[in-house]
Amino acid sequence: MAGFAGTSSIGRLFAATTLAVVMFIIANAYLARESRSIERFGESVSENAGPSVVQLTAVHAALQNMTAGVGLAFNSAAEGHPIDRSFFAEDDGRLHAALSAYLALPFYPGEQALYRPIDENIDTFERAVDRTLVLLERGALKDARTTMRSETIPFGLRASAALKRVIDFDVAQITRMSGEMISVRRRFSFFSYGLDVLAVLVALVLILLTSRALTIYSRLAEERRLRAERRAGELEQFAGRIAHDLKNPLGALSLRLEVVRRRHDEETFSRLSQPVQSMNSMIDDLLDFALSGARPQPGTANIREVVDEAIAMLREEAASAETTVDASACEPVNVACSRGALTSVITNLLHNALKFIVEKSGERKITIRAGERGGRVRVEMEDTGPGIPPGTERSVFEPFFRGAGSKAGGFGLGLATVRRIVEACGGSVGVESRLGQGSTFFVELPAAPPPASE
Ligand SMILES: Nc1ncnc2c1ncn2[C@@H]1O[C@H](COP(=O)(O)OP(=O)(O)O)[C@@H](O)[C@H]1O
Ligand SMILES: [Mg+2]
Repeated sequence: MAGFAGTSSIGRLFAATTLAVVMFIIANAYLARESRSIERFGESVSENAGPSVVQLTAVHAALQNMTAGVGLAFNSAAEGHPIDRSFFAEDDGRLHAALSAYLALPFYPGEQALYRPIDENIDTFERAVDRTLVLLERGALKDARTTMRSETIPFGLRASAALKRVIDFDVAQITRMSGEMISVRRRFSFFSYGLDVLAVLVALVLILLTSRALTIYSRLAEERRLRAERRAGELEQFAGRIAHDLKNPLGALSLRLEVVRRRHDEETFSRLSQPVQSMNSMIDDLLDFALSGARPQPGTANIREVVDEAIAMLREEAASAETTVDASACEPVNVACSRGALTSVITNLLHNALKFIVEKSGERKITIRAGERGGRVRVEMEDTGPGIPPGTERSVFEPFFRGAGSKAGGFGLGLATVRRIVEACGGSVGVESRLGQGSTFFVELPAAPPPASE
C-alpha cells in the first residue's frame, strides 16, 4: 500500500512537471508569434505605408505647383512677358521622382486599383499643361484660357483627388496597423502576466508534490529499515533455536560415541563419528551464515591481531597442508567492524586457502597483506592454489556455490558468510584469479580511527 502511494505520488510529480514543461513551450511559441506580428506591422508602417504617404504628398505638392504655375504663366503672358519653362521642368522632375519612388514600394491589397486614376489623370494633365504653354508662347491667350478651363485645371483636380484617395488609403493602413500593434501588445502583456502567475502556481504545486513524495519516501525507507531490523532479530532467534535444538542432541550423541570408543568398539566409533562431525560442522556453517545476516555488532578490530590469531588457530592445518603463511605485509590498521565478525571473515578465507591449496602440486604459499588508503582498509589473501574458473568470480560468493570437482568438504556457505558480514560492515568483497595459478581474495572495509590513548 505504501509502495503504491509512493509510485502514484512520483507519477503525479512526473505528470505535473511534464505538463509545466509542455505549457511553457506552448506559451513561449505563442509569445514569439505575437512579437513577430508586432515586428511585421512595425516594418510595414515604417517601410511601406509611411514612405508611400511621404512620396504621394510630394507628388501632390508638385502637381499643385504646376497648376499654380500655369495661372502665373497666363498672367505674365497677358502682360507680354516671355514664358519660363524651366520652372515647370523642375516641378515635373520632382513629380516623377516621387512617383517612381512610390511605385518602387509594394502595394497593399486594393491599392493598385486606387492608383490607376492618378496615372491616367497626371498624364493628361501634363499634356494639357504643355498645350497651354504652347498656346501662351504663341500669344493665343483666348485658346490658352479655354484649354486651361476645360483641360488643365479639371485634369489637375482629378489627379489631385485620386492622389488624396491613395494617401487616405495609406494613412488608413497606418491607423489599422497601429491599432493592431496596440491590441497585440495588450494581449501580450496580459498573457505574460498570466503566465507569471501560472508559473508561481505551478512552482507551488511542484513544491507541494515533491515534499509529499519525499515524505512518503522517507516513511517507506523507515518502514524498510524497521522491517530489516525485525528480520535480523528473527534470524538471530532462528539461529539460537537451531543451536539449541540441534546442537544439544548432537552433543549428547558425541558423548555416547565417546563411550563407544572407550569400550574399544573402534569400528562402530569410526562409522558413526564421521557423519556426526560432518553434521556438526554443517550446523556451525549454517549458524554462522544465519548470524552473518543479523545486525552487525558495532566495534573496532585491529587487522594484524586478528590475522595473527587466525594463523595461530589454523597452524596445524597449515602444517598438514605443507603451506607457509606470510603475514609480514599486514599492517596493524584498525577497521570499523567487530572483532568477532572480522575473525570469522579472516578464518573463512584462510581456511579456504589451506583447504584448496592441497589440490595443487608445487609451491604452497599464502600471503596476507593489509593497508589503509583513503579511509578504506584493503585486506588481500593471495594463495598459490588451484584458482577459480573464469566467470565464477561473483558466483563463489553465492550461498551453496561449490566448485565443480572440489574434493574438499564443505557446504558452499563460507564465502557467502564472508560477503554478508563484510557488506553489513559497509565493505565489499571480490576475487582475482587465474585458473591453475592461484587466487587473491580481497576485502575492503571502512577504516576506524585508532583507540584514544590513555
Ligand atoms: N582459495 C580458494 N582457491 C580456490 N577455490 C576457492 C578458494 N576459496 C573458495 N574457492 C571456491 O569457492 C567455492 C565456495 O567457497 P565457500 O563458500 O567457502 O564454500 P566451501 O568452502 O564450503 O566449498 C569453493 O567450493 C571453491 O570452489
Ligand atoms: Mg569454505
